[in-house]
Amino acid sequence: MRKVVGIIGTGWVGSSVAMAVLQTGAAEEVWLHDVRTDIAEGEAMDLAHGAAFYPRCAVHAVPLEAMRNADVVVVAAGRGGKPDESRLDLLRDNARLVADIGRLLAGFAGTVVLVSNPVDVLTQVMARASGLPLQRVLGTGTMLDTARLRQALGEELDVSTASIHAQVIGEHGDSELVLWSGAQVGGLLLRQWPGWTSATEDRLACSVRQAAYEVIKRKGATNHAIGLVTARLVECLLDDQRRILTVSRVQEGRCGLHDLALSLPTLVGRDGATLVLEPAMEASEQEALQASAKVLRAALKLLSI
Ligand code: 2OP
Repeated sequence: MRKVVGIIGTGWVGSSVAMAVLQTGAAEEVWLHDVRTDIAEGEAMDLAHGAAFYPRCAVHAVPLEAMRNADVVVVAAGRGGKPDESRLDLLRDNARLVADIGRLLAGFAGTVVLVSNPVDVLTQVMARASGLPLQRVLGTGTMLDTARLRQALGEELDVSTASIHAQVIGEHGDSELVLWSGAQVGGLLLRQWPGWTSATEDRLACSVRQAAYEVIKRKGATNHAIGLVTARLVECLLDDQRRILTVSRVQEGRCGLHDLALSLPTLVGRDGATLVLEPAMEASEQEALQASAKVLRAALKLLSI
């Protein structure tokens, strides 16, 4: 069986996802679809011309219905955020689109990965519209914020990001929270790092929260980091890597959360986001997580779902 990754939406984000997925070598075929057929075809041709520089993989533009035969479908369709626009402002437009795609994917045998924003709400919209098992409807969630945090910590401490274990959970958006109490560098609690202060935490948390706005202000969109993040998630699904990732999925009771999509540390492998972990949290972190859940519930209410 060939490993096929379908990408719906080939704008800034979808094309960066395609590029990053090709570089991983995890897929044998990448299928692209966009409502603007020419754009999807052009991207497929352009990416295929680079085949000498990534592991063997075919790239094609396909009709939307073909996505039902992929192993993983990445949804990067919809419009992106404008400067100063919160992710939740995108809500209504993108929810309609994702619900349509979800209905088309009813009975799909693979895993769906939501990238479009607001990613948590759209993950929930997809889960409802498609009726797929909850573990097979994932959002990239705070994987990107976690990556930004690790990069910021790496720079702050002058340590490789590979040696930094720190996570952002909750909403992929303004109410996200950093789990500082459990963050570690090379096995040492970050809070025991020489010179570490709560002011450093506040500054870094703020820079991670603001990161997307800062990029959008300058270049109009974010695409490369989310492309790499999504490729890692796709790789994990296709190769059954069983990594713990801060993906978003509809929660079924962990941390007291039910019927709400947001990110918690989760085991990801061939069968999707199967095991959600309850991280050790101090009281303020527990409160921040519940506050983040409240923001997302309010957003769902706006959609009346
Ligand atoms: C990001 O965080 C905008 O959600 C997108 O880069």
